[in-house]
Amino acid sequence: MQKPGHTALVDGLDLKDHVAIITGAAGGIGMAIARLFHQAGTKLVLADYDEPGVSGLASELDKTRTRVIPVAYDATNPSDADALVEQCISRFGQIDHLVPAAGIFEDQPIEKMTDEQWRRTMSVNLDGVFYVCRRAIPFIRPGGSIVTISSGAAHSGSPGHVHYSASKGGVLAFTKSLAKELAPKIRVNTVSPGTIDTPMVDEYMKKHGPDWISRTPAGRIGTVLEVANAVVFLCSGASSYTFGQAIHVNGGSYMGG
Ligand SMILES: NC(=O)c1ccc[n+]([C@@H]2O[C@H](COP(=O)([O-])OP(=O)(O)OC[C@H]3O[C@@H](n4cnc5c(N)ncnc54)[C@H](O)[C@@H]3O)[C@@H](O)[C@H]2O)c1
Repeated sequence: MQKPGHTALVDGLDLKDHVAIITGAAGGIGMAIARLFHQAGTKLVLADYDEPGVSGLASELDKTRTRVIPVAYDATNPSDADALVEQCISRFGQIDHLVPAAGIFEDQPIEKMTDEQWRRTMSVNLDGVFYVCRRAIPFIRPGGSIVTISSGAAHSGSPGHVHYSASKGGVLAFTKSLAKELAPKIRVNTVSPGTIDTPMVDEYMKKHGPDWISRTPAGRIGTVLEVANAVVFLCSGASSYTFGQAIHVNGGSYMGG
């Protein structure tokens, strides 16, 4: 039996030769999503601020770079979203799935939060999602999907991170509105992770880890694969009647609709 959090959802996924754009693809969750799509035979455009990170992953997955291409991309820059979509179309001629996963998470109580910190978080986590969706949507083929990455912080709040939770609440509401606007041609859903073992939460876990784990029914932090499984499920035909939903991958830390 597999250790919990290490079972990949691959068999039977109808994602072969589809084309997916993943942003934040050099990060913990984005990389896991990329690997899982790759196992399912999907062609990939991997975008991140961390260019060496996506280049390294692209070379590892596909030495010839015929099915996987890396793109240097800043989510806060609308022209980078234009260039990302253009590169996908010029290389692969289509888009089937978009997973805008780039994000930042900074610890800052509101008394000390600067306007600049607020704007940076909103800019990467919310503006960036809009920029890339807006540009990709005209090219997404019927039957395609957008899966955003929200957060438990959007549903239950997160003290010390009002900018982050507001940005992710924005992503959640954006996802629901977009799901209604684009249905039935394109399905739009979100995944709301709880605390997942990536560099993003290293500092948080150093400070709050034992307390957080004691309040989490699963009794452990989540793995990136557990989030990736939910994302590829939402892109696959296995979720064909799922529109505008938030799938919680959080070990039970938040239980709600
Ligand atoms: N790890 C968690 O516990 C957790 C929980 C809830 C939601 N999330 C969300 O999941 C997503 C992935 O996070 P992760 O945990 O893998 O974090 P991570 O820090 O490992 O990865 C984030 C990635 O986003 C990239 N990025 C940051 N700013 C960017 C920008 N301006 N333009 C382009 N790329 C940029 C980084 O280079 C990095 O590769 C984020 O949207 C995050 O908010 C994570």
